[in-house]
Amino acid sequence: MRAAWYQRLGPASEVLELGEMPDPTPSSGELLIRLFASGVNPADVKRRAGLGSYSKMEHSRVIPNSDGAGVVVGIGENAQPSWLGRRVWLFNGQRLGRAYGTAAELISLPSKFVADLPSHISFDEGATLGIPAMTAFHGVFSDGAVKGKTVLVSGGAGAVGWYSVALAVWGGAQVIATVSSPEKAARAMAGGAYATINYKSEDVASRVNELTDGRGVERLVSVDFGGDLRWATQVVAMNGSISSYASDTQKHPQIAFQEFASRNIRFIPFILNSLPSDVLDRARWGVNAWLEEQPNLMRPVGGKFGLKEIAASHEAVEAGEKFGTIVVRPGE
Ligand SMILES: NC(=O)c1ccc[n+]([C@@H]2O[C@H](COP(=O)([O-])OP(=O)(O)OC[C@H]3O[C@@H](n4cnc5c(N)ncnc54)[C@H](OP(=O)(O)O)[C@@H]3O)[C@@H](O)[C@H]2O)c1
Repeated sequence: MRAAWYQRLGPASEVLELGEMPDPTPSSGELLIRLFASGVNPADVKRRAGLGSYSKMEHSRVIPNSDGAGVVVGIGENAQPSWLGRRVWLFNGQRLGRAYGTAAELISLPSKFVADLPSHISFDEGATLGIPAMTAFHGVFSDGAVKGKTVLVSGGAGAVGWYSVALAVWGGAQVIATVSSPEKAARAMAGGAYATINYKSEDVASRVNELTDGRGVERLVSVDFGGDLRWATQVVAMNGSISSYASDTQKHPQIAFQEFASRNIRFIPFILNSLPSDVLDRARWGVNAWLEEQPNLMRPVGGKFGLKEIAASHEAVEAGEKFGTIVVRPGE
C-alpha cells in the first residue's frame, strides 16, 4: 500500500516521507479498511512534532493520523462478516499503542473503533467525525442530557467546538459560543448557537449574565480550561459542570477550590482516545444518531490534500486558520 510515515520527530516537511509498505493483515476482531479520507487533528500534528507529552518516538516508524473513512475490504478471525463492503468512519487509528494510522491506503483496526458511515455523508466528511465529533459528544453529554439547558461552548468555531455547538443544539439546549472574530461568530451561529461572545474583546461573564438573565449556564464545554478559568466560575450555575478537552494556554492551571465547591461545580477533564469502551460506544452511536437525524447539516472539512501533500496537510493544522478538519486523500 501507499503510505506516509515518519521515523523521527520534527517539522512536517523534514520528517514526513511517502512510500510503499506491505498491506496490513487484520488480526482477530479487526477490520481491514480501504481508506478514502484521513482526518488530521491537532494531536496527530503534536505527536509528529514531538510537542508536550509526545517528546519520544513511540515506534520506529509511525503512519500518522487517528481518524478516517473508507470501505471494509477484509475481516480478521472473530470479526463479523457482515462488516464486509460497508462504508465506515473510524477513530483511534494511530493511538493506544498502534503505530499505523490513517495516512495510508489501508488500515487494520478493531471493529469497536469503527462505525457505519451513512450514505449521505461523504468520505471526506466521515474523516472529520472521529476525534472532533466524538470529543464534542462526550464534552456535551458526559454529565447527562442537555434538553432545556443552556450550554456555553468556548471556541465555538473550532473543529471540536463547532460539533459541540451542533450536538448541544440537537440535544435540545440553548447554546452560547465564545469566538474571536465576526467570521467565527457566523460559523458558530451556523452550527445553531443563538448568541456568540468575542472572548478577546468582550467581558464574557457579564455577557453570559445578560444573555441568561443572571441564571448562568448549566454546562460549559471548554477548549481552553486554563484560559476560561478567568470567568468560568462566574458563569456556571449552581450544580452545573465544566467538561474540558484542552488547556493549551495553561497546562497546569490552579483552581479556586472554594468557588467550585460552594457552587457544586463538577469538573470533567478527559482525553477521548482512552475513555472506557462503553463510553466510546455511546459517543460513536450518538454521533451516528445525530448524522441520521440531521442529514443536511454541514460536517466541516477545513481543506483537502492528496497523500503526497501530507506535510502541507499537517502545516495547515499548525497554521490554526482552518475551519473544520483538514482531510488527506490516500488515493491521491
Ligand atoms: N482531550 C481530547 O481528547 C481532545 C480531543 C480533540 C481535541 N483536543 C485538543 O483540543 C484543542 C482544539 O482542537 P480542535 O481540533 O478543535 O482545534 P481547532 O479546529 O484548531 O480549533 C480550536 C479553536 O479554539 C479556539 N480557541 C483557542 N483558545 C481559545 C480560548 N481561550 N477561548 C475560546 N476559543 C479558543 C480557536 O480560535 P481562536 O484562537 O481564534 O479563538 C479555534 O477556533 C487542541 O489542543 C486539541 O489537541 C483534545
